[in-house]
Amino acid sequence: MAKKTIIANWKMNPGTLAEAKKIFGSVKKTAQKLSHVETVVCPPFVYLHELWKGTSGKKCALGAQDIFWERAGGFTGEVSSSMLSDALVQYVIVGHSERRALGETDDIVNKKIHRAVKDGFKTIVCVGEKERDAHARYFLFLEHEIKQSLAKVTRAVLKNIIIAYEPLWAIGKEAKRPATPHEFFEMLIFIRKILTDMFGKKEAFAVPVLYGGSVDHRNAKEFLAVDGSAGLLVGRASLEPKLFQEILFSADLSAR
Ligand code: PGA
Repeated sequence: MAKKTIIANWKMNPGTLAEAKKIFGSVKKTAQKLSHVETVVCPPFVYLHELWKGTSGKKCALGAQDIFWERAGGFTGEVSSSMLSDALVQYVIVGHSERRALGETDDIVNKKIHRAVKDGFKTIVCVGEKERDAHARYFLFLEHEIKQSLAKVTRAVLKNIIIAYEPLWAIGKEAKRPATPHEFFEMLIFIRKILTDMFGKKEAFAVPVLYGGSVDHRNAKEFLAVDGSAGLLVGRASLEPKLFQEILFSADLSAR
């Protein structure tokens, strides 16, 4: 079976480098024991360089939580692709709903995706509806979001795209509840259909699709068991080494 990809999105946590090193050290230790999991930790930018010093080989990769589309220049506060490459970052999250909530549009997300894939990063594109309405308009919303975000992406760079389905109502402390594995399955099929329309069947089926939103050590197994599930994007639980360890072990088992 293909490896599962487990992404830890630390968001704006933890508060100090010392804590970051501690959590990372524990994740790395677990990651080294697994042969069927691609473990990726996405810390805040300022910790990337220091944490890389502690990564050993390919067992635990580093990701960034964002990227800017221009290569250099007068863009106060932004971080470029060459800075991320220099920190040996391999993955980039683009279009997380918490960034979209701060004003990031599909157009901005699209520019960032183009930069990231062009410069060789594995690019995790977050998509998901805000709410579920009785008329199932959320399907149309998702279709629009995916088509806009991936506009003009070519088949040649599609191999660098990973889709993370993260319904907004399932994310973070304010979450109503996690999605159910069945809901994820339904959306996974729908996402494949959209990608098939855009890129063709063979290409669409090669794009990994992850689930994210209130994943924890109890429900991880069920999401990983969904037919076609490529892995998980984990927020809060990724900051709890014990819980995250359980998630990683579940992923390793589910990929055997
Ligand atoms: P959560 O966050 O696991 O804390 O719900 C997931 C995410 O926002 O990526």
